[in-house]
Amino acid sequence: MTDHLLDPVEVHLPDDHAARALAKDAREGLAADPKSLPPKWFYDARGSELFEEITRLPEYYPTRAEREILAQRAPEIAAVTGAHTLVELGSGSSEKTRLLLDALRAAGTLAHIVALDVSDSALREATTALAEEYAGIRVSGVVGDFTEHLGLLPGEPPRLVAFLGGTIGNFLPAERAEFLTAIRGVLKPGEWLLLGTDLVKDERTLVQAYDDARGVTAEFNRNVLHVLNRELDADFDPDDFAHVAVWDSEQEWIEMRLRARREITATISALGLEVGFAEGEEMRTEISAKFRRDGVAVELSDAGFTLERWWTDTAGRFALSLARAD
Ligand code: SAH
Ligand code: AVI
Repeated sequence: MTDHLLDPVEVHLPDDHAARALAKDAREGLAADPKSLPPKWFYDARGSELFEEITRLPEYYPTRAEREILAQRAPEIAAVTGAHTLVELGSGSSEKTRLLLDALRAAGTLAHIVALDVSDSALREATTALAEEYAGIRVSGVVGDFTEHLGLLPGEPPRLVAFLGGTIGNFLPAERAEFLTAIRGVLKPGEWLLLGTDLVKDERTLVQAYDDARGVTAEFNRNVLHVLNRELDADFDPDDFAHVAVWDSEQEWIEMRLRARREITATISALGLEVGFAEGEEMRTEISAKFRRDGVAVELSDAGFTLERWWTDTAGRFALSLARAD
């Protein structure tokens, strides 16, 4: 997860940026009560592969639902935005993004594709494939953190920033507001944001999507412990932790946690730190907030956007919002 340059070279970030950020997050999160870690640390090469596997699980509907909307609405998105640059944040494999890119290319406006992701491996794979598939269109990859590096993004107006997959739900509400405001801050009036949000629905469907029968999400969750072991020379045994996914009906979010199966003392050598878990103690590793139309419209408006289009899949599970910077 080292920040560095990709081909074509666009952005310089210090080599040790990710290592220092993980050390800080681990030091703070493991000392907190209750313990927590930010979800961005799931996504080393293995974590990114596991996420892709999650998107193919029968229980995990968001990817299919969002793809259905994009397949239907991409031509309209291209016509309304006339985007020259498609900037994708948290791009992962950019698999669904091709629906947008195809529509923008067919409309004759697409000149530049910019992808930003914290996962070096996922970004390299995606941008290499995009450069081959979209010959003649400039492709820029940026390994970085979308909460810190928006100001470094290349691209020419009019730009369409795509934040897909429901990743906005992985922020806490205050972080979400800050993030939307930061995106608005890098856009000019009249430029565009395309935002994917998973919607509130029955608890059973939600919990199954985050606790699948094959245990892929459990492995994804425990992967953060492998990342701590490798990057910070820690000695967690991931099998000591159970995967937990609970629906918080007040906050309207799914919370993923790791629960200690026994009393544990782990050493994080790179931090010179010992961390104790009581049996049954839980550490939060992710929230995945679910949304309603009114809330999304207010949050976009508060950040300086006007919601121009709102589309859902036919089953009403997931929404795409197209918003214009005021
Ligand atoms: N957009 C894709 C992938 C979603 S998975 C889709 O819709 O399927 C979330 C993606 O965001 C992962 O690729 C992960 O590496 C990336 N990510 C998570 N936190 C990030 C952060 N703080 N900065 C940049 N990328 C991040
Ligand atoms: C990336 N993000 C939107 C996913 C989600 O659904 O919150 C991550 C994920 N966590 C468990 N499964 C998938």
